[in-house]
Order: sequence, then C-alpha cells, then structure tokens
Amino acid sequence: MCGIVGYVGHRDVVPVLLDGLTRLEYRGYDSAGVAVLCREGSLSIRREAGKLVNLKTELEADPLTGHYGIGHTRWATHGKPTTENAHPHQDSAGRIVLVHNGIIENFLDLRAGLESDGVEFVSETDTEVIVHLVASYYEGCLEEAVRRTLDDLEGIYAIVVASADEPDKLVTARQGPPLVIGVGDNENFIASDVPPVLGYTRDVIFLDDGLVAIVTPESVVVTDRQGTVVDAPPQRVDWDPVTAEKGGYEHFMLKEIFEQPTAVRDSLVGRMYRRAVEIDLGELNLDAELANSMSELLLLGCGTSWHAALVGRYWIEKLAGLPVRVDQASEFRYRDPLVAENSVACALTQSGETADTLAAMREAKGRGAKLWSICNVIGSMATRISDGVLLTQAGPEISVASTKAFTTQLACLYLMALKLGELRGRLSREAVELRLHSLSRIPGQIEEILHRADDIAAVAKRVAHFKQFLFIGRGVMYPIALEGALKLKEISYLHAHGYPAGEMKHGPIALIDEGVPVVALAPQSNLYEKTASNMQEAKARDGFIVGVATEGDAALAAFSDELLTIPDCLPEFSPLLAIVPLQLLAYYVAVELGCDVDQPRNLAKSVTVE
Ligand code: M6R
Repeated sequence: MCGIVGYVGHRDVVPVLLDGLTRLEYRGYDSAGVAVLCREGSLSIRREAGKLVNLKTELEADPLTGHYGIGHTRWATHGKPTTENAHPHQDSAGRIVLVHNGIIENFLDLRAGLESDGVEFVSETDTEVIVHLVASYYEGCLEEAVRRTLDDLEGIYAIVVASADEPDKLVTARQGPPLVIGVGDNENFIASDVPPVLGYTRDVIFLDDGLVAIVTPESVVVTDRQGTVVDAPPQRVDWDPVTAEKGGYEHFMLKEIFEQPTAVRDSLVGRMYRRAVEIDLGELNLDAELANSMSELLLLGCGTSWHAALVGRYWIEKLAGLPVRVDQASEFRYRDPLVAENSVACALTQSGETADTLAAMREAKGRGAKLWSICNVIGSMATRISDGVLLTQAGPEISVASTKAFTTQLACLYLMALKLGELRGRLSREAVELRLHSLSRIPGQIEEILHRADDIAAVAKRVAHFKQFLFIGRGVMYPIALEGALKLKEISYLHAHGYPAGEMKHGPIALIDEGVPVVALAPQSNLYEKTASNMQEAKARDGFIVGVATEGDAALAAFSDELLTIPDCLPEFSPLLAIVPLQLLAYYVAVELGCDVDQPRNLAKSVTVE
C-alpha cells in the first residue's frame, strides 16, 4: 500500500515528511520521494527506488529546506519500482506536484487524450495523468483545478497536490484509500494513517470519501466535489503509538479482518472493468495461446495459502475447464512429482518467502513448468523467480493468522479463473459480465458481515468453553471448513478439524456428542440439501450446531444452535464471504480465552525454514 504525508506550517518541512514516511513504513513500499516547496516559489523533488534509507541518504548528501511539502512511499501497481515511477510526480512546467495512493482505472484513455494535446509523459504510472490534468485545468486556483480533475477520474484515490504558485496550500482529496488530516497550531498535517500525525497533534479529521480539503497553516476547509463547504470537525484521538499502528483496534488480526473490503476491492480494481467486460491480468503474461496450450495448472502453497489454492481448483476447473492439481508445497517438493508437458505451476504465498513454497516452485520449474505466483510482497523471492506474478493488494499482514491475504488471494484466483475461461472460449461475454457484476458487490457484502461482528462475538462467548470443534462443508465450502478450523486452532489452541461434510459417515461422526460443536457451512448452492442433512445427522447425535447460512434461511435456523449468516450471492462467491464470520469467530474465541492473538505460541509469520 502506498503511504502519503503532507505538511504545511512553521517547521522545516523535510524532517517532518521523513518522520511521517518512516511511520508509514509498516505499510510496505518499494520507493519513496518528497517534494519541498518554498513560499518564494521554488519546488524541488527527490525520489529514490528501494528503502527509505536511500532517500534519507540522498537528502543528507544534498539537503533541501522548505516551508511546505508532500511525501510518498510507493507500492508499485502500474510500472516498475523505479525512481522515474516513484512519487511525487510533477506537471511539465514543474509548478504543480502530486502524490497518489490508489489506482486510476481509465488512465490509458486519459493519457491518450493528454498525449494528443502534446503532453509528454516521463513515467509508466497511472498517477502521472492526474498531475497533468490538474495542470491543464489550472487557472490560479488549485482546489478548483483538482475538483475538475476528479470529475475525469475513474478508480480509487487519495491525493495531495501542491502548486509552487500558491504558497502554503495543500489540496487533498479522497475516494477509497484513507486520508487523515492532523490539525495543529498554525500548522497542519496530512497522512494516510494516524501514526505520522500523532507526534504533533491529537486532533484529527478522518476525511470521508468524495471530499476535498484545502489545507493551509491556519485552516482546514473541507468541501464536497462541487466546492460546498462541509462540516468536518476534528476528533481527539488518545491512542498511544502502538494502538495507532493498529488503527485503534485491539489486535492487528481484527484490524486486518476489517481491512478486507478495501483489500479485496484494491485487488480487483485495475484488473476488472465491468463496463468494458474486461479482465486485465497483464502481469501474468497470460495470452490465448498459453491458455489453450496449457495441459494443467498446479497450485502450490502452505497453510492458509494452500486452502486458497483448494478453492481456486473448484473455480478454475468449473469456469475454464482446465485440470487443476493442488499440492501442499511441503509434500510436492519431496514427492518426485510428475509434471506434464505444458504445465503451469502457480504458487500462492502471502510472504513470498515460505521455504517449502519456494522449494516446490523451483521443483516445478526444474521439471519444465512455467511459473506463476500470487503473492502479497513485491520483490519477494517468489515474485523474483516467477515468469508471471499477480500481486494481491492486501497491504502488509502483521498478525500471524492470515486473513486479508486469504481473501485477496481468492479474489485474484477468481479473476484468473475468469480470464482462463474467457481465453479458452468456455465463457460467453454475458457469463463474464454477470460474474464481474456479482464480484464487484463482494467488498460491500464483506462490509455487511463486519457490521455484525458484535453478534459473532456473542456466539464466540457461548462456544469458547468447548474443547474441540468440527468444521464441515461440501464443494467450494470444504476448503473454507479447513481454513475456519485452522484459524481457530492456531490462535485459540483448541482442537479444530475441517472435513468434507460427505466424509462424516466415514469416521468423524463417531466424535459427535453434546461436547462437540459442528460448524457447518451451508450457504445456498446445489449442495445445500446434502450439507443440511449432514447437519441434521450431527444434531441427532446431540452435536452443538453452528450453522453458516445465507441470510433468511429459516430452515437452517430451525435446527442450528447458533447461526452465522452471509449475504445472498452467486454460490461460487460464497467462499469470499463465508470465511469472514469464521475469522471473527476464531478471533473472539481466542480473546475470550485470553490468548495472544497476534503472536500465537510456536508460530512465526513467515516460515522461512523447513
Ligand atoms: O506466506 P505464505 O502464504 O507462504 O505462508 C504460508 C503459511 O505459513 C500461512 O498461510 C499460515 O498457514 C498462516 N499464517 C495461517 O494463518
């Protein structure tokens, strides 16, 4: 995730900007830069690829001073992590400068228009179009030019803009990614998150979507997109620095669960275009020839990432008619596996550094497979050894228990399934259109589930005394049963086992009595009746039933002791929703039991050794 800072006031601006960028380092980034402006009208930019220390070293060697400015840490989406692509970006005259977090979906059209007007682009970023647009509309009033620019943009953005011709003024706007304005005494701050601001002021405005703010040392004026002033009084935040990093949540895990609507949206945006009915997975280097010559797809991963791969198999086989093999990386690497000619192996890995996954990738490549990865960390080993990479846009995942990495992996896998289906001629344009429409609703539907977190906490309180749990599901819900069980066991140390519901009679049903809750995943699908029967069988043996059902399912409610619901969706999307209540259930059970949620015993975030 990119990080944004801005400052206007009486201090020397560079140390404030660098301090702010340091406090945003946790978001992850691959390049950084600052723009420094003086009241006398000068504007200077410094940018460096790589770590922030590179920028700091450059500024120590060749210092800058100024009165106001903006800074940025970039997590590359459009264009490589190079100095040229690093922010801030400036207009051709070098008078207007801008930082941006987000993705501009229609940047290619906008760029073509600007180029035909003679604008020369110097980067590969989507961001650069914004600064040229602001310049093209600029007639002496920066906020007016910004508002007109926003009318042209499709996508998501948080931006901060400055003009060398309007001293001591920053204009900031938000549609999607967060923006916080710190209100000080004759100085004001802008940042992507609270930590950069906390050392200076505790009075902050959390800018709402669709709003624009004009920030000077003496004032913060918030307006809507038409320029009408909106009341946005500062709130006092009493967070200590650690709480601030957690965004006010008690644990990183909870924060990350709540970040899922944004993380999933960010992983889809720029890759799916509903109106054009288009899926753009350029980074994978997947074309019709490859899609049609592929003999099979091998999906490799460990733990939660392996569960995502299991879901992916259902989607890809169904939508693309392509055989998919899923392997735990730790097994694949030592199995002397057969890899058919024209195979593609795709690793799923949040960190990109999991030892078993990297070994399995090398094994597959050594046996002739083309190598892809779906990964959350740009520049990680997995991304470096892959022939094609889909980056999940989850942002840094700090809690050991993986949550938003999982749902963003699912989002990417689903797009991959659709793209393969389209290229292999298995899906009509209408079929793709229908699915893109439903997919675009998923982030909002995850939000709906999160609004019911208190109800799920109450269920967790009622089940936390049980010592063992069974999680069951069929079809695409089976991997979700596995993932729900993993979440519970890793953070609460309770025994939890995931099973395909159809396997119950082959053994596990012997475990069931009044001391064993059965968490049964039965949202609406063609397998609903069958899972419902398994639930009734468990109920008949005195099992305590926690159903996960589609909203309004009275039948399941009737024989469940507790019911967790998800919004109605196309059945194939239910994994993206059904995992959310299970993450929350695991979280609240662990809290109830007083466990160390973010750093469970014996576990590391990244398993870089065998
Ligand atoms: O970074 P990776 O996705 O390669 O990590 C794989 C597993 O270690 C990881 O998913 C683990 O199972 C989770 N932390 C569990 O929540």
